[in-house]
Amino acid sequence: MTAPTNVPLALVVNGAPATVTVDADTPLLWVLRQTLGLPGTKFGCGIAACGACTVHIDGVPVPSCVTPVSAAVGKAITTIEGLRGPVADAVQGSWAALDVPQCGYCQSGQIMSAVALLSANASPSDADIDTAMQGNLCRCGTYPRIRAAIHQAAQSAAAKAISTPSGVRAIAPIAPVTP
Ligand code: FES
Ligand code: FES
Repeated sequence: MTAPTNVPLALVVNGAPATVTVDADTPLLWVLRQTLGLPGTKFGCGIAACGACTVHIDGVPVPSCVTPVSAAVGKAITTIEGLRGPVADAVQGSWAALDVPQCGYCQSGQIMSAVALLSANASPSDADIDTAMQGNLCRCGTYPRIRAAIHQAAQSAAAKAISTPSGVRAIAPIAPVTP
């Protein structure tokens, strides 16, 4: 077994530069939570099987528990704390309106996957939603509300895009779900 070797790595997290000195194989999840103090991204399984740790790398949802931090160097990392924009706003609004979370533990990962889906597909079908969200498990069984909230967010985002031609406006950040 090779001993860990810490090296400085230049990251961009939620739009801000951050240099961390860690072993290059350290899972991104632990760098976010422990080194950078961003606890909104959750640890569930550690084997890419639950989706609780989902973050975006260059807009693509990835399980940060199995992503080495070195794989994120030079790319844009976004966590639940850094979600911004009309789609995130619409998702936040529908999640609150439909009271989606139960215990809340899985929800930051669910929201990260939902925002990535709606950013790529503005009007997803039920099948699209089920496919995009299949990696995000919820032990509380909130799946019906998640699907409904994604549909509502899609409608809300479409309506706002019509009423605000620029499609861009300032929003409040989504509060991270705390353990
Ligand atoms: S903690 Fe990463 S997928 Fe479960
Ligand atoms: S809301 Fe409890 S695990 Fe999903």
